[in-house]
Amino acid sequence: MQQHQVLILDFGSQYTQLIARRVRELNIYCEIHPYNKQPANASEFKAVILSGSPSSVRSDQAPHPDLSEIRGKKPMLAVCYGAQYLAHFSGGEVAPSNTREYGRANLSFIKDNEIFFSEISEGSQVWMSHSDTIKTLPTNAVHLASTSDVKNAAFRIDGEDTFAIQFHPEVYHSSDGKQLLENFLVKIAGVAQTWTPNSFVETTVAKIKETVGDDKVVLGLSGGVDSSVAAVLLHKAIGKNLYCIFVNNGLLRKNEFESVLNQYEGMGLNVKGVDASARFLTALKGLSDPEKKRKAIGNAFIEVFDDEAHKIENVKWLAQGTIYPDVIESVSVNGGPSATIKSHHNVGGLPDFMKLKIVEPLRMIFKDEVRRVGASMGIDPELLGRHPFPGPGLAIRILGDITPEKVAILQEVDAIFIDGLKESGLYDKVWQAGAILLPINSVGVMGDERTYEKVVALRAVESTDGMTADWVNLPYEFLQKTSNQIINKVKGVNRVVYDISSKPPATIEWE
Ligand code: XMP
Repeated sequence: MQQHQVLILDFGSQYTQLIARRVRELNIYCEIHPYNKQPANASEFKAVILSGSPSSVRSDQAPHPDLSEIRGKKPMLAVCYGAQYLAHFSGGEVAPSNTREYGRANLSFIKDNEIFFSEISEGSQVWMSHSDTIKTLPTNAVHLASTSDVKNAAFRIDGEDTFAIQFHPEVYHSSDGKQLLENFLVKIAGVAQTWTPNSFVETTVAKIKETVGDDKVVLGLSGGVDSSVAAVLLHKAIGKNLYCIFVNNGLLRKNEFESVLNQYEGMGLNVKGVDASARFLTALKGLSDPEKKRKAIGNAFIEVFDDEAHKIENVKWLAQGTIYPDVIESVSVNGGPSATIKSHHNVGGLPDFMKLKIVEPLRMIFKDEVRRVGASMGIDPELLGRHPFPGPGLAIRILGDITPEKVAILQEVDAIFIDGLKESGLYDKVWQAGAILLPINSVGVMGDERTYEKVVALRAVESTDGMTADWVNLPYEFLQKTSNQIINKVKGVNRVVYDISSKPPATIEWE
């Protein structure tokens, strides 16, 4: 059984998602819940992890939840703020540390703790990030480990499977962090390592069947990984009752609409391709402001999708490819439910398809798990490895106003760049790549002729989630060859530049 294995109570740390990822890497199912919205079934979980927090436990505004339902009753691992919280409310003393303790440190063990520290050697590197420190342990605590700057780096509560660590095992710099989590979860809490892509597919398909029954479901496919994997899962569960809609907004990559549509059909999906290019280009006519362009595209998509959804008789559900980071964000300690409240207020004004019941088969898994689940269902690795592509497509890579001619130029440039990356074996080493058409002309010379033509920028970044990114150091030979090909083959372009800005301060897209 995968449900209710590990509960992670979030106190607002930037690392909470990382805890969940590490636990999932151990093939253990876990859920993050904000400390102030503990699930009603908290006692059904097999183990609990308390996260870190930017707060000081000494502040009245800090998270001070009632843990009486779980503390001492379930194996518990308290990390950083969690450890301080445990110490503070069990009779220990937490005080500001003289220096802010941030960075690498090395563990030395005070007391042998076979299970907790087995397979972890004395001197193991850990990552610290805190400004308060635990000065005195509670009287019922057993001191387990120190570092050179942090005396009480690890302790347990006597007679309980309650452990506390000041460092962050979830961060890669804690070299045995994953091992420590495994020791706690598997050896101490006895949690089974049964969370695998295959088991996820099995339970999710069963759950979709149970929830949706014989109802019809509509899903918007984008050509991206999430919506494709969601579609295949739903298709496994309900077959032809899943109606997929794939819209061509005229702003996709060269030949993408036809080739992805073919691929979807080949996968047996009940998919309708809708070519609405003209409608989108008309909606964009004369618009140069990036936000106005985004809005026009968003509105056009809603209109097209609503029209198409109405053609499916008696459809009851809207499926979405929402993944876990989006869910965590919307219920986070700081995020709160405000976004949802807004859309409730707007229900009267929403298009009909938005009033459908929602089914989100991927809402509890991370992006890397989506790919693993997709692979386990036999989805083409090329589709699963596709770079992210923004919803508004090439419209936000054509700076200024959009015309069909500009779209055609950028599609050619982009295709040369992306095909080149694939041919050179660089595509999978890059997180996202694309070309940008700049709103300026520059002077060039071709043969004996003076030219005055467009400039394009190439952008390739490495990243893990798009929040931060760095430009990729592509080989000069590759850039040289690509630039030559673009200038020789794409009419209207006489200059190619390479974007060497990281995010922040730049963003990945130029608009
Ligand atoms: P930025 O430009 O904000 O992009 O650094 C971060 C990631 O988000 C994608 N992106 C978008 N995706 N609609 C989308 O669906 C948008 O309006 C949009 N803007 C940016 C971008 O491609 C990158 O992966």
